[in-house]
Amino acid sequence: MKVRKAVIPAAGLGTRFLPFSKTVPKEMLPVLNKPAIQYIVEEAVASGIEEIIIITGKNKRSIEDYFYNNAELELHLQSSGKLDMLKMIHQPTTLANIHFVRQKTALGLGDAILTARSFIGNEPFAVLLGDMIMEKSLSCLNQLINVYNEYKAPVIAVEQVPDLEIGNYGIVLGEKKGERLYRIHRLVEKPKTELPSRMAIMGRYILEPDIFDILNDTKPGVGGEVQLTDALQTLTSKRSLYAYQHEGKLYDVGNYLGYLIASIEWSLKNEDIRDSLYIFLKKLIADIEEKN
Ligand code: G1P
Repeated sequence: MKVRKAVIPAAGLGTRFLPFSKTVPKEMLPVLNKPAIQYIVEEAVASGIEEIIIITGKNKRSIEDYFYNNAELELHLQSSGKLDMLKMIHQPTTLANIHFVRQKTALGLGDAILTARSFIGNEPFAVLLGDMIMEKSLSCLNQLINVYNEYKAPVIAVEQVPDLEIGNYGIVLGEKKGERLYRIHRLVEKPKTELPSRMAIMGRYILEPDIFDILNDTKPGVGGEVQLTDALQTLTSKRSLYAYQHEGKLYDVGNYLGYLIASIEWSLKNEDIRDSLYIFLKKLIADIEEKN
């Protein structure tokens, strides 16, 4: 069965971006001139996804507004002849069939995904986390869909991370099955002790509806939240689950450093600003080096 539905959980409290995220969702942080969540929707659409459900929560209203029309602004741009801008603000509303559902309480990623159960029904689906973005040219989701189509089993994207960072991610342990493919034996959410693996879950998953019953029975784990990683651990005792070391780089824009890195790298690829930014950065580095 074709993967044509996607869940984008965006209901988290965004504590890593407080105080900013007190009123503005971190998914609306701009990378260049588009909010992070637009890149995620674009990646889903480019991978063949037709229906998207975004799980929102308290203070996430601006995400919904962004994907709907703004008649007043459109009229203003139309009458003042700013047709390029008109096209730009209209584009997000035409990307896909986007639906919204609110998670009642922020009980964690696993619970947010459970909220999408009736929307998903009985078909495979993708999950794209709201703070991991990737350049358009190399869709991580597309790579996972290819693996899913071949193995007909759930698969998640992983990347090797430095030792010091394993406590920030879900870590998987598995047996190598192909150049980039692993069959997962064990998953640990944000491990506190060392593990013989640095393969971190990177916010892209292809799952099947059997995960919902498991999520329903999963008790809160790390941080008192229902963890998708814990449900996936249960899944491994029932059937095969794969990890795919995807090509290309995902940017974790859910923390300051990752956000700044993504903004700088993407800006350096933007024709309009890259030369000026490059000159600025070069001078900044030279000044810092001189002071040291
Ligand atoms: C979530 C997942 C974790 C994963 C991470 C990055 O954690 O629970 O397994 O490694 O996203 O995709 P969060 O960053 O939301 O705390």
